[in-house]
Amino acid sequence: MYDVEAIRKDFPILSRLINGKPNTFLDSAASAQKPQVVIDKIVQTYTRDYANVHRGSYLLSEEITAEYEAARHKVRQFINAADDKEIVFTRNATESINLVAASWGRKFLTKIDEVLISEAEHHANLVPWQVLRDEIGFELKIFKINDDGTYNHDEFLRCLSGKTKLVAVTGMSNVLGTVFPLAEIIKAAHAVGAKVLVDACQYVVHQPTDVQALDCDFLAFSGHKTYGPTGIGVLYGKAGILASMPPYQYGGDMVNVVTYQSTTFDVPPARFEAGTPAIVQAIGLGAALDYLMNIGMDNVKAHEDELVKYARERFREVDRLQEIGTATDKGGVFSVVLNGVHPQDLAFILDKEGVAVRVGHHCAAPLVRRMGYESLARASFGIYTNHADIDRFIAALQKARTFF
Ligand code: ALA
Repeated sequence: MYDVEAIRKDFPILSRLINGKPNTFLDSAASAQKPQVVIDKIVQTYTRDYANVHRGSYLLSEEITAEYEAARHKVRQFINAADDKEIVFTRNATESINLVAASWGRKFLTKIDEVLISEAEHHANLVPWQVLRDEIGFELKIFKINDDGTYNHDEFLRCLSGKTKLVAVTGMSNVLGTVFPLAEIIKAAHAVGAKVLVDACQYVVHQPTDVQALDCDFLAFSGHKTYGPTGIGVLYGKAGILASMPPYQYGGDMVNVVTYQSTTFDVPPARFEAGTPAIVQAIGLGAALDYLMNIGMDNVKAHEDELVKYARERFREVDRLQEIGTATDKGGVFSVVLNGVHPQDLAFILDKEGVAVRVGHHCAAPLVRRMGYESLARASFGIYTNHADIDRFIAALQKARTFF
């Protein structure tokens, strides 16, 4: 049984009043709140256990190295990777995608190739490919989604060809909530010999993820959206592919033998973790993933599916409210327009009611424009979101409506 009220008690920030009102935090897609176990783990690590990793021959360093590597193992479990070596710690998902572009992309892409992405990508899965295209000269193709924000497999297949070397797609849109049928996409991409990178920032927090079942080649996500700290991200890569990639940053902790003349590089994942890593952040992420795995991602998905259904029912009560992106298979991300009310004004009024939503282009400006807008207000759910949050959101929308 999913006990959302018990989960809410684990998140101290939720008991804080906002503008004198209950904290109705509907911006988990931007960054999720942290449970007490994650906060405690960070404090305990700095208070009692801190040292650098992979360097010291003393107890504290040995212990914290084991903790850091245990966090890598937890990530492996969370996404069911075959081996800990397939997990690279980065700063965030943006850095994970940039790593693939700078290392794999520069080595394997040529000007006769094509990279295929969707219209629904976050800037982080668009801009690195544009910049690399300008450098290498390959074609960057963008396949269309439907006007209602749903995925269009025919369009994807129309753009996929023997020239496609990489398909880079979101698992779940941060604007529309649309969940992409990853297994189908990956199978079709592999059939033409393309590799597949999944931007799984939203995907991994909304449902179970199994990289072996999906068979994706790369998968990126960020720690702060998975109830962990900021400053930590993950790149999953198949072992053989990571081993074929050159380093993209150079320095300590990623080398084997260094002389004044030349250097040999360590194997992955160390090869891609130059310098002192985000030690405490990785350990904090490990605590967050333990917390999620303990709840069970199947249970998280069931809870969220129920919230999505409830929110949609209640939206019908609000005159002039439009949901942008109406896929059936949708996570708890709702971009909305209240006709006649500027999204910025809407967000302002909601905030006065203690309701936090994100407003703007959500780091996916071409997508928001493609849907016909410059700016959208977005409410997004987390594991702690309950019916009362949605009720307060609806009440605040009704209030906003009366002003315009
Ligand atoms: N990409 C994050 C969002 O969608 C920051 O808000």
